[in-house]
Amino acid sequence: MTEVTDLLDAGERLDLEGLRALQLERLRTSLRHAYDNVPFYRESFDKAGIRPEDCTSLADLARLPFTTKADLRENYPYGMFAVPQHRIRRLHASSGTTGRPTVVGYTDGDLSLWADMVARSIRAAGGRPGDKVHVAYGYGLFTGGLGAHYGAERLGCTVIPASGGMTARQVQLIQDLKPEIIMVTPSYMLTLLDEFERQGVDPRGTSLRVGIFGAEPWTEQMRREIEERFAIDAVDIYGLSEVIGPGVAQECVETKDGLHVWEDHFFPEIVDPITGQPLPDGEEGELVFTSLTKEAMPIIRYRTRDLTRLLPGTARVFRRMEKITGRSDDMVILRGVNLFPTQVEEIVLRTPGVAPHFQLRLSREGRMDALTVRAEARPDASPEVRDAAARSIAAAVKDGIGVSVTVEIVEPESLERSVGKIRRIVDLRPEQ
Ligand code: DLL
Repeated sequence: MTEVTDLLDAGERLDLEGLRALQLERLRTSLRHAYDNVPFYRESFDKAGIRPEDCTSLADLARLPFTTKADLRENYPYGMFAVPQHRIRRLHASSGTTGRPTVVGYTDGDLSLWADMVARSIRAAGGRPGDKVHVAYGYGLFTGGLGAHYGAERLGCTVIPASGGMTARQVQLIQDLKPEIIMVTPSYMLTLLDEFERQGVDPRGTSLRVGIFGAEPWTEQMRREIEERFAIDAVDIYGLSEVIGPGVAQECVETKDGLHVWEDHFFPEIVDPITGQPLPDGEEGELVFTSLTKEAMPIIRYRTRDLTRLLPGTARVFRRMEKITGRSDDMVILRGVNLFPTQVEEIVLRTPGVAPHFQLRLSREGRMDALTVRAEARPDASPEVRDAAARSIAAAVKDGIGVSVTVEIVEPESLERSVGKIRRIVDLRPEQ
């Protein structure tokens, strides 16, 4: 039998010393490229009084200024590009919820790197050449669909480009075309689960072996739910348009212990979200990325707003990032207590009588913010079970997170379903 280690690519075979040396060499080239070709970086480096050649160790990276989403917006649409337009082969745009989107560009080289990284990710997830991959991430400006698509092709898989939506047909396709792998947001996988059940098809009886889930936060409880209901391995894939798209980090199926960051191309740091000070590996903070090999849009110290921590490598030499707790923008501050939707997900998913569908509704009562957790009853849950579930969720939020919330158990099928990234928080507070 082929061992996993026989399949690794050259980057994955580096030892730690070789990796750090390669990163430094690439970092210096990438900083020079950004400085020479993007006025924004030239100005920000000059202002900080640092030149690319001053970076003589990986630790020196911390001397450089950050790049934020606001910087990308100000340079909309093409101001962050480092190559002439004729070398840009594709554009994508990130899913900004408010204001201008951010446009990202790729050269031929970037598209090839991206396909390599997604191929590496699918392989780490347990995919092999010849597998059929059902891609239910949305195709379009969102990087999920096309990113997964070219990566699966690069690995030598057969791609089924289903995209998002038309849920009944997705179930049909899975039954007829018999994919071994599905790539989709975890919340849309739950929508598919409902549809399997509606059609009277056993979700445990499909050809699927592995699900590669990402684009939104999801918890260990959600992993268990999906793995049990579909009888598959569920692993986590991470990425963001500004860095490249999906395939920045991937969980290995053999360990399922967090996501290995493909740090031979995307260098991670963790910083204190308030002060911006770098934090040592092991401490939780905001994830920051610097691209080491990108051509069209090098990105230096980009603040992702995603909260996690870095841990040593296990199945691969690269460091791991823990499953993302949430984005700093999705953090609800309720009477001084910080709350993330993932914390509520953990509680809802372990409560008997409720389905894995919930929503957080923020409202204002007088001068205080209030939070209502709406969770859907399972169809067979009696009124007594529903009452007990409401009490149990409220108590668990109070004990575990430290804040009082109202819990409403709503009818089955009554909450909005996801076709892509799910919206967990509904903000009903009047505008300030
Ligand atoms: O969501 C890229 C992607 C597509 C990743 C498909 C994985 C699978 P954006 O639309 O730019 O790109 O959104 C990026 O989504 O900063 C995180 O907040 C969130 N995110 C992505 N993957 C994960 C994950 C794509 N595995 C933003 N866990 C990121 C938690 C994730 N959050």
